[in-house]
Amino acid sequence: MRVLSGIQASGKLHLGNYFGAIQQHVQLQHEHECFFFIANYHSLTTVQDSERLRRLTLDVALDYLALDLDPHKAALFRQSDVPEVCELAWILSTVTGMGLLERGTTYRDKVERGLPASVGLFFYPVLMAADILIYRGDIVPVGRDQKQHIEFTRDMAVYFNKTYREVFVLPEPRFNEAAIVPGVDGQKMSKSYGNTVELFSEPEVLRQRILSIKTDSTPIEAPKTPDTCNVFSLLRLFASPQETAEWAERYHRGGLGYGEVKRRLAALYEETFGPRRAARARWQAHPNDVEDILRDGARRARAVAQDVMEHVRSACGIVTKR
Ligand code: ADP
Ligand code: TRP
Repeated sequence: MRVLSGIQASGKLHLGNYFGAIQQHVQLQHEHECFFFIANYHSLTTVQDSERLRRLTLDVALDYLALDLDPHKAALFRQSDVPEVCELAWILSTVTGMGLLERGTTYRDKVERGLPASVGLFFYPVLMAADILIYRGDIVPVGRDQKQHIEFTRDMAVYFNKTYREVFVLPEPRFNEAAIVPGVDGQKMSKSYGNTVELFSEPEVLRQRILSIKTDSTPIEAPKTPDTCNVFSLLRLFASPQETAEWAERYHRGGLGYGEVKRRLAALYEETFGPRRAARARWQAHPNDVEDILRDGARRARAVAQDVMEHVRSACGIVTKR
């Protein structure tokens, strides 16, 4: 089984990225062959400042390493270090109907949120399908917001296999138990929406951010509904099932202020991510080691991609002279 996933370098990584994706990635590296990449080509749909993109790309690598991704086990690399994905994206686009992409909800959501409606943003799911199919990924651990993208990937694999011959395996998504993690405004937490709680901000910044999480105006004495509360949704990601049940009970009973829950959330956050700051700082002090890790990861991944592309080109009659 080959496991594969990508994370955009379009902002600092946040709780949604961790509980939706990275937590599973780190677990899966012990069980399967894993490829994880920094989706910097995808980031160009939102980040168009070269210095910033370079910095954010390194940040994602540092975050992964600080969160215990072992580069000897999993291949960690930049998407752009395997440029064949762009070639495959083009080929897939020629067997994909416009109607498929027009059903895409991410494009519509992002445009509604004010992102520029570029051709790249519309084409995004095709590049993502190429990312997955080029490595013959069997399992794709992602957050639930990516469900439709994986369905599109399977559709594109079928279109290609039917048009030419069976080259691609159909990938399966793997979701964490956590539903979509809400941001401080209650919408899906996302780097492009400015509503994140970052994984590695300073304790004071983090505390302020947690205090700013939107809550309703139910008075302290009144009973409250945990299931619709953003603070509770985040707290349950960290707390044990027993502690979560106790908080739920206190919500229902009434007499609980949101400030108290937020303070507990901040403490749990610090317990989980605080100790990782030092590991991140150690990697940050050795950028050449990080670069070596990314290059080695790309070398391993590219070997697979080049082999698959031989089959793809041959299946559709593209002749390349070497
Ligand atoms: P963002 O939306 O912040 O730009 P990415 O698109 O780079 O994040 O997503 C990287 C991974 O993190 C994906 O697997 C995605 O499903 C997951 N993810 C992102 N935001 C959330 C969220 N709010 N809840 C759950 N998973 C998420
Ligand atoms: N689109 C994904 C996201 O926004 C990032 C991504 C790009 C990805 N290519 C991928 C995820 C391939 C899994 C597999 O989260």
